[in-house]
Amino acid sequence: MNKNSPIGIFDSGVGGSSIWQEIHQLMPKENTIYLADSKNAPYGNKAKDKIVSLSIKNTEALINMGCKIIVVACNTATTNAIDILRSTYNIPIIGIEPAIKPAALQTKHKSIGILATRGTLSSALFHKTAKEFTKEISVVEIIGEGLVPLIENDELATNEMETLLKKYTAPMVAANIDYLVLGCSHYPYLIPQLQKILPSHVSIIDSGEAVAKQTQHVLHQQGLLKESNKEVTLQFFINTKTETLKSLLKAYSQKITVETLDF
Ligand code: DGL
Repeated sequence: MNKNSPIGIFDSGVGGSSIWQEIHQLMPKENTIYLADSKNAPYGNKAKDKIVSLSIKNTEALINMGCKIIVVACNTATTNAIDILRSTYNIPIIGIEPAIKPAALQTKHKSIGILATRGTLSSALFHKTAKEFTKEISVVEIIGEGLVPLIENDELATNEMETLLKKYTAPMVAANIDYLVLGCSHYPYLIPQLQKILPSHVSIIDSGEAVAKQTQHVLHQQGLLKESNKEVTLQFFINTKTETLKSLLKAYSQKITVETLDF
């Protein structure tokens, strides 16, 4: 493992590529390997034990590919498995959690919404963070049931998606929220649709930029930042068909490779 080794990123599917975009934007010299475990998506409704074993499988695959750091680009895997991953592997591991703290600090209406998976909203780590930062505000927590399978299928702007988003945001609008926290790495791909549905005073926030900054910070601390921008390789592996990932990343099609791999 050295400075030129890749940053390893995994998610239950294609959604964590929203986090990859933030990482690549901040650190364009870095080599990256992204694993989309779409075969097992969604993780959000699975039991904790299953989420842990899938997270171990993905982490080991990235370690075996020579990665220097692992980014768990999945809120569900982070909130259920990151402690176990960190105590098992001797490699820096970065996680993603819903951005409750910035929303709670900035809300003027004292009312925020959180859209996330069942696995994230029911996790002990989520409860701990929510309890710490939302004592004096009201929080509308909604499970985004059905959203991940539609995104995995590249159905971002269908009628079915619009119906679900209207249903999930209605209680938030009724509670007069001014911040919507996206607590799943798939959901940033729904921002244009959400903006059409939500009142204009609602700010939508996700954790992608913070995760990228934290990854950079840890690499810097450990002397592992890549120095040269020669030979940057940006590899994506998915254990189902490649179409959705290619479609979500079409802006990068000239510089990335997307392949099917059974992992
Ligand atoms: N993208 C993942 C997350 O951030 C998981 C979605 C799912 O597989 O249910 O929570």
